[in-house]
Formats: sequence, structure tokens, C-alpha cells
Amino acid sequence: MLYIGIDLGTSAVKLLLMDGEGEIKNIVSKDYPLEFPRPGWSQQNPEDWKNAVLEGIPQLLQGFDPSQVAGIGAGGQMHGLVVLDRENHVIRPAILWNDGRTAKQVDYLNGVVGREKLSKLTANIAFAGFTAPKLLWMRENEPDLFARIAKIMLPKDYINYILTGVHCTDYSDASGMLLLDVEHKRWSAEMLELCGVTEAQMPRLFESYEKVGALLPEIAGRLGLPEHVVVCAGAGDNAAAAVGTGTVGEGACNISLGTSGTVFISSEKFGVDPHNALHAFAHADGHYHLMGCMLSAASCNKWLMEDIFQTCDYAGEQAGITPGKLGNNRVYFLPYLMGERSPINDTNARGAFVGMTMDTSRSDLTQAVLEGVAFAIRDSFEVAKSLGIRIDRSKICGGGAKSPLWKTIMANVLNICLDVPESEQGPGMGGAMLAMVACGLYPTVADACAKLARTAETVVPDPALSARYEARYRQFKSVYPALKDVFSTMNGVLP
Ligand code: XUL
Repeated sequence: MLYIGIDLGTSAVKLLLMDGEGEIKNIVSKDYPLEFPRPGWSQQNPEDWKNAVLEGIPQLLQGFDPSQVAGIGAGGQMHGLVVLDRENHVIRPAILWNDGRTAKQVDYLNGVVGREKLSKLTANIAFAGFTAPKLLWMRENEPDLFARIAKIMLPKDYINYILTGVHCTDYSDASGMLLLDVEHKRWSAEMLELCGVTEAQMPRLFESYEKVGALLPEIAGRLGLPEHVVVCAGAGDNAAAAVGTGTVGEGACNISLGTSGTVFISSEKFGVDPHNALHAFAHADGHYHLMGCMLSAASCNKWLMEDIFQTCDYAGEQAGITPGKLGNNRVYFLPYLMGERSPINDTNARGAFVGMTMDTSRSDLTQAVLEGVAFAIRDSFEVAKSLGIRIDRSKICGGGAKSPLWKTIMANVLNICLDVPESEQGPGMGGAMLAMVACGLYPTVADACAKLARTAETVVPDPALSARYEARYRQFKSVYPALKDVFSTMNGVLP
């Protein structure tokens, strides 16, 4: 049988067709626009996601027998606020995970309601990208639209709703709304009330690997698929990527270098970072995880290559960064192009190159961007270390993991072994694997991972290079504190 995995990302949806043995048969990617209506704001039209998925699936199936498709599972960009009215029309563009407009609402939640109370109710504190502050923002800034809300959901839930007509979500994605009591896996009545919404507006909760429904007849007809195709609840993209890379069980780690950069630490028990720098969320395998999320990772490299250098030749730009240059770059890059979440939680933070001289070259800047992202990932590792979590190896996935140079930098900055999966398609693969469990092909997510998540190679750190990067990291650590106050005064209106 065949399974479709949907990776509903920020720049594109990637659709993947896989058989029950984990062989990827086909991949189709469809881009959609991303709007930045003001600096630090980020939104997307859910209709664009819908059209990309509905056009992409028939393309994915070209040359294959659609009657062989048994299940569909999605991993989606987290936290985005999707709101529908009573006629099931989208009310406004979805406000995305990397949107920074809710600084005021975040201050209210963390300062007035209080971090301690939020953490007790939801296992987390407020961050600008989370869903609850966006509801407060809408209530304050768009009261007429807020009053029309009949259904609240997350990005991949909108796709599941279009496919099945079921208003549902899963625990991993719901964890990032700041509306879920993560430990007990139920909506927090107190948080819903605080945001002025009711449980009737919220989606029904499922485990990621549970079936939520089958295809609606008109959708099955449009896609050329049988109506009995099972749709599972799916997961937030990071939990789905963890499944795709086999990151399950106690202490397993995955790094994702996508538009965002994340460090995902799987855990069999519920646990909270006492300082809430790492998120405490449910995992798609039925357990839990801790996660650090930086808002701009591979997107920093894409910005430098495509917007600034006006090239798509990423490998060509990296070719000049020879082994002797690693650990010796004197230029530093702060990767805060959309503000930053973990661990500094600062919507005012901005990107910066620091340390340039007349001999700084184009390739030094490229190197600084790759290194700056690795250093910022290391910041989340340091938080995990401070909690007594030991990580000596990690999986790595996402578009950035295609670059051998970036993987070498990452392994040496973190001083750990990086296991590179056969495919870097983490969330899409995880989505397809969750569908397999929903269809009964594998009894548990862990069984599916044991069978299907295979490592292609391991990148091992070099002690001398790691030592050089250790010194560079210490220098990097001093840059943001020196600029923090400058950033906070830069976002006002200039005379
Ligand atoms: C995780 C997060 C991002 C998005 C990106 O908390 O905000 O990783 O899920 O798609």
C-alpha cells in the first residue's frame, strides 16, 4: 500500500508518496507566497495552502495506482492562527509562527497573568508566535473579525478539515497554542476564558497517529483517490520531523534546519524547563518533548544567497570556505532576522554582521551566516545542558541539512555526532509514518521508527576544530547582550 505525507511548510508544501517499507516513490513541492505586511509581521492565506495540496496530490500520484493509497498524514508549521466563520470561510490571513506583532499581548500574559500561572496551566509561557497572544491581538485590534470566529485551528488542521470535514487537531501541535494543559492533554478552561474563546470553537483533540476521518466524497473525486483513504491527525512539523528521523524514546534528539531551526529532545515523561526557555510540548508518539526554536535558520542563508547576493548557487558560494577557514572566521552574524524565540525571547532582536574589516570577503559573510545559525542552535543546547540533559548525538534534517559544510560546522560547534537520515524530508516522512500507524500497518509510532528511520551517514566532530569553535562561541555569546538595548530602541518610528 502507499501513504501520502504532507509537510505544510512556510515557503512551500512538500508532498511525499511512500510505501510501507519506507521507500519514497515520489515528491512534489509547491510554493506559496508569504506576506510581511509590516516589519516583523508574517502571514499567509490558508486558501493558498489548500490549493497547493489539492493541486499537488494528483501530480504526486501521476504514474501510480491511486487505489493503492491507504492513508494521509500531515506535519504542519506550528502556532499559526487559522479562523473560520459560521459558513466555514477563512476570516483573515493566518498569523504565522514567526510573526512578532503580539509583543504587547505577550507582555500582558507573562507580566500580568504571570509566567508562573501560565506555566502551571499550560507548561509554557507566552512567546510572540504562540496562538493565544494572537487571539488577544485580534480581540483588541480586529474586534469585528474576532466576533465572527466559529472555528479556531492550526495550519495543518485546516488541510485535514478540507480533506475530511472534521474540525480536529493533535496534542503536539495544540501544545504550541498556550491553550492546552499539556501534561493532562486537555484544553485549559482558564486559558480559553482568558482569551475570550470557548471550547466549542476549539478543535477536537487526537493523538497524532489516530484516524480523524476519511476523505469527503467531493475531495476524493477531485484527487482521484478512494473515499476510504484514512486521514490521521498528524502533528506539528517538529514532532512529525522527529518521527521521520526516528527521534523517539528517552533523550533522543533531532535538529531541524528549515525556515526555523529547532532542537527537539524526546522524553518518555512529562517535564518542564523551570525557566521556560525550552518549550514543553506533547510528542507525536504519545509522549512528550522539550524544544528550543529559533525563528530564522535556513531562511538566513536563503536571505543572504537569494535576496542579497542574488544567486541560487548555494554550493558555489560555499565552495570557497575551505577546511582551514573553519573556526577562524572573525565575522559574526546574529541570525535574528525575525526577532528571536529560544532562548532569548526578544521580538526586537534583529540580524547583524559584526566584526567586518576591509578584507572581509563575500565568503566570510556566507560562513558567518552558517556559523551564526549553528551558534544560536548551541544556545538551546546550553539550556538543555543546564537542565542536566546530556546529548552526545543528534539526528539532523531540513533543507539546511543538504549542505555537507553546514553539517560539519554544526557537528563541531555542538561537539556532537550528527546522524544524517537517508532522507532530509523529516515532516513529510513523519506524516506518512503516522498514517501507517493509523492504518494499522505498525502497532506504534516507535515500531514504525524502528523499521523505517534509517541513518545514511554520521558526521563526527574533530576535537581541534571543536576547540576553535568553543572559543568562537564564547565571543558570539557576547554580541547580542551588547546590542540588546540598541535593538529595543531601533523599532520606534524615526523622525
Ligand atoms: C516551532 C515553530 C517552528 C514552526 C516552523 O515552535 O514555531 O518550528 O513550526 O514551521
